[in-house]
Amino acid sequence: MKTLIPADEIRDAVARLGGEITREYAGRPLTVLGVLNGSLVFLADLIRTIDLPLRIGLLQASSYRGTATSPGDLVVNEELLPTLDGRHVLLVDDIFDTGHTLEAVVALVKSRGAASVQSAVLLRKQGRRQVLSEPDRHLFEIPNEFVVGYGLDYADEYRHLPHVAVLEPEDLRPTASNDHPS
Ligand code: IMP
Ligand code: MG
Repeated sequence: MKTLIPADEIRDAVARLGGEITREYAGRPLTVLGVLNGSLVFLADLIRTIDLPLRIGLLQASSYRGTATSPGDLVVNEELLPTLDGRHVLLVDDIFDTGHTLEAVVALVKSRGAASVQSAVLLRKQGRRQVLSEPDRHLFEIPNEFVVGYGLDYADEYRHLPHVAVLEPEDLRPTASNDHPS
């Protein structure tokens, strides 16, 4: 496995984003909404750099993936979703890959009466987009390679790494087609 983005670069970029959010959302009721499970680490770090009153919300998006990167059927679990009426929502996710996840969750949040919705992802993968929309903000642009760490998993492992790493072919092992939280 090879480090693509070291932990200190992530920390600096997250802090810059937190500063921007602090300036942009001052005086507005902010809900930072994380897409489980991949946004967990990013969400936890980001909210501690935002110097505003805010609420946290969560929802879960899962897809059936036969291989490491092929998009499958998306399932959004809204059981944890708080009331969003009149809230300004910053949607946070780990990575914009094909874009199907973000497109689906943005549509869901808009349908729940949010006053505004913006998205911020840690990573944007080049050359993979299959939807018309783009994330409003991304911290890093990465090549089309499978990455893990800082919340991102392979077969539900490696999420705890403090940096983002590229999985090399010998790190990839075949898994049965499984339903794992993205
Ligand atoms: P989408 O294709 O933009 O809908 O991305 C869906 C989800 O796939 C992301 O939220 C991630 O959980 C997962 N994903 C996409 N690319 C990678 C990767 O390189 N490593 C780990 N997970 C990924
Ligand atoms: Mg995800």
